[in-house]
Amino acid sequence: MSGGRGARRVDRVPAITSERLELVSLSPTFMEALLAGDRPQATALAGHALPDGWPDRHDGAFLRLRARQLRDDPGAQEWLVRGLVLREDGRPMVGHAGFHGPPGVNAVARPDAVELGYTIFPPYRGRGYASEAVRALIGWARGERGIRRFVASVAPDNAPSLAIVRKLGFVETGRHWDEEDGEELELQLELGDEPA
Ligand SMILES: CC(C)(COP(=O)(O)OP(=O)(O)OC[C@H]1O[C@@H](n2cnc3c(N)ncnc32)[C@H](O)[C@@H]1OP(=O)(O)O)[C@@H](O)C(=O)NCCC(=O)NCCS
Repeated sequence: MSGGRGARRVDRVPAITSERLELVSLSPTFMEALLAGDRPQATALAGHALPDGWPDRHDGAFLRLRARQLRDDPGAQEWLVRGLVLREDGRPMVGHAGFHGPPGVNAVARPDAVELGYTIFPPYRGRGYASEAVRALIGWARGERGIRRFVASVAPDNAPSLAIVRKLGFVETGRHWDEEDGEELELQLELGDEPA
């Protein structure tokens, strides 16, 4: 979709595209409309379908946190949450993914690292969408921003999420207690000098 003047989307962060997905940056204006309950405006700004009932309480709190981050640092938008939109008719949104913030915002407090977060809505799980989105985010951060170190914090009983990051080469480096999510394993991936 065009991001030019007059286009429906008002943010200027380009989407990341993978084989089946478009990773569409959620702009502050979109999040404000959505959180205010203005779905027509949010849908018009998004340019893709919004799932019924989304955001639920959990995702509402998550989006409020990201909206606050964006108010404090508008330049952080390219790192933050993206809608995962299927590249097919109807453009359904199947989940969201992004980094917790720009480099330095991560559970292991490394200034050169970014931390991943991802959710696939239940009807769309088990089809490889989270793996594809995480690969696309890592490829973008490595190729466009020179990031080599990636972090994921995953609950020890979250087998699908552990499968995703382990498959990509993440290794466990520690664990911590998260006020909201309880115990989490810290996993890290360090890429070498190979081309992106
Ligand atoms: C975790 C989550 C994002 C996975 O989404 P998804 O699109 O279904 O994931 P994928 O299909 O890309 O991959 C899932 C992997 O887990 C594996 N898996 C699924 N259930 C599993 C289980 N019970 N035990 C072990 N592995 C399992 C799948 O086989 C697949 O691995 P494979 O590609 O090697 O076959 C999704 O379950 C979700 O949104 N959960 C709630 C939010 C969450 O936990 N986010 C992550 C926070 S760290």
